[in-house]
Parts: sequence; structure tokens; C-alpha cells
Amino acid sequence: MQRALLLVLGLTLPGFAWSADNCSTDIRGTDQMMFDKDEIIVPASCKHFTITLKHPGTLPKEVMGHNWVLSETRNMQAILADGIAAGLEQGYLKSNDPRVIAYTRLLGGGEEDSVTLDTATLNADGDYQFFCSFPAHSVLMKGRLKFGT
Ligand code: CO
Repeated sequence: MQRALLLVLGLTLPGFAWSADNCSTDIRGTDQMMFDKDEIIVPASCKHFTITLKHPGTLPKEVMGHNWVLSETRNMQAILADGIAAGLEQGYLKSNDPRVIAYTRLLGGGEEDSVTLDTATLNADGDYQFFCSFPAHSVLMKGRLKFGT
């Protein structure tokens, strides 16, 4: 009986277990149209990895919207082009785009959002880019994500 209860608690508290293993990170997207990181390392020991995007600015998302989108580098330009076509209401992302590995919603100043990756979807030798899909922001707002080392 007690073992069963502990098992249930373990299954319902996965976020606690991940954060204890450095399997999460924060990234900020500012009113100056910058991310505060240009590289994110996902440790190979993490089964899941959570990215929390924070927008510490004051500008609304219509003017200075930021999201955090992850894809293989070779797919980034096509995702951006389709995102512009999708428009602000869709968060500048085509819905159900299979080339997008993970994404947060589009944020304005004072907002935050998190997304959790299943690292089984990543390859150690993969070439991954994260970026903001708001029109033209990826010129400055992009970086590398590496899995493993
Ligand atoms: Co942006």
C-alpha cells in the first residue's frame, strides 16, 4: 500500500525530478529584440528538458512579440516564411507544423511560457536552431541548441 502511494507521487511530480537534474533553463526575450542566450545545452542525462521563455519588457506582443521555436537549422527559413503567412493571430507559426520540434506561445512584455522537450526526439549529432518567429526578429533572436555535450 505504501509502495503504491509512493509510486503515484513519483509519477505526479515529474517536474520536481527534472529541475533537480538541471534539466531546465530560462531564456529572456527583451524589448531590445534580443535573447539573453545564444546557446542552450541539453544534457544527455535528461529525459525531458523544460525551456521557460520570459519577456521582461513592457511592449505588447503586436509590437515586440517573442516566442521560442526549435527546429533543425535547415528548416528554419521555411518555418519563418510560413509563420509570417500565418500571422499574429497564429503566433507567427503555421499550425501543426511537423518541422517545429517545440515552441512557446507568442509573448508580450511581462508574460512567460514554458515548453518541455522529450529528448528522445533529439539526436546528439543534430543541428538545431532556436529562434523567435516574429517577422524579422530571427536576424538577432536565434541560437544553437545542442544535445549531449
Ligand atoms: Co521576437
